[in-house]
Amino acid sequence: MSGVTASAPGKLMLLGEHAVVYGHPCLVTAVNQRIHVTVEKNGKDVFYMEAPDLGLNAYSKTIENLAIKAPPPAVRFVEHLYKRFLQRWPQREGIIVKTKSEFSSAFGFGSSSAVSVAFAKALTSLYEINLNNDELFELCYQAVLDVQGVGSGFDIASAIWGGTIYYVPPAQVVRRVAIEELPLVVGYTGIKADTPTLIRMVQSLHADEPEMVEGWFTQIAGLVNKAEKAMGEKRWDELGKLMMKNQSVLRELQVSSVELNRLNRAAVKAGAYGAKLSGAGGGDCMIAVVQTEVRAKVEKAIEIAGGEVMKVELNAEGARYE
Ligand code: PMV
Repeated sequence: MSGVTASAPGKLMLLGEHAVVYGHPCLVTAVNQRIHVTVEKNGKDVFYMEAPDLGLNAYSKTIENLAIKAPPPAVRFVEHLYKRFLQRWPQREGIIVKTKSEFSSAFGFGSSSAVSVAFAKALTSLYEINLNNDELFELCYQAVLDVQGVGSGFDIASAIWGGTIYYVPPAQVVRRVAIEELPLVVGYTGIKADTPTLIRMVQSLHADEPEMVEGWFTQIAGLVNKAEKAMGEKRWDELGKLMMKNQSVLRELQVSSVELNRLNRAAVKAGAYGAKLSGAGGGDCMIAVVQTEVRAKVEKAIEIAGGEVMKVELNAEGARYE
């Protein structure tokens, strides 16, 4: 047998970032850029990984040394996840892991969550261990916490369940939003966001001004709940307004940036219903809700303002075997 291949999608945060780390809900959609991971047994006591798209070639480690010395970024999640897996389901021989990525990790579409989920799905299947989505989430989320210490797990859930989901951490609620399409334009600022640093910034703001920050989180949660309803009813103008409000709170939290604000402004001026940053902030992408008639105009405006329009399909399928 030559191994098992699984793939998982990247994600795009719609509303609720940061507040979701503190137990509030968020809305996230899966994007049609995927990572494929193939896992096979290698008959040796070695973990071997080949991930050329993530800048990793011929990486190997003996099983007893897994995740002891900090692994390089491209392999971190997979290595920690494999270690967790072996603690729970010990095996005598190691594996070969190969990945193929359809997207650049620079855009913030969640390559680490996608690679973790695709790997976990392929690995468990290789050993004929049947995990349901909740169990798969548990295994992957553990690895995220091992590596980062923080994170709501929204990206892991998005990679597993796919589609567009209303999410309360850690996968306490995962509810599919029944939509066929999501009329968004996605603009990349050209700047890579540093998610753990931004999470820590909000943490320190929260420690200094707990009541004020909790108040903002409660406001965000209210907007997320209204947005879920608006999306279900295809009230895109209302969704745009809610995104604008969410963006104002994110600015209060000091996670927006000059570039994000510039792209948002350009999109709204060109006729978008609303725009906001997507994800941790500080860079990465912004999203704008548009009517079909103004899409081209909004895309052009984003480009003139210095952004790159990302051609992605949203509401994509979750993790699957290939
Ligand atoms: O930067 P991204 O796209 O991975 O989004 C981070 C979203 C946060 O809410 C800030 C963190 C999290 O784990 O939910």
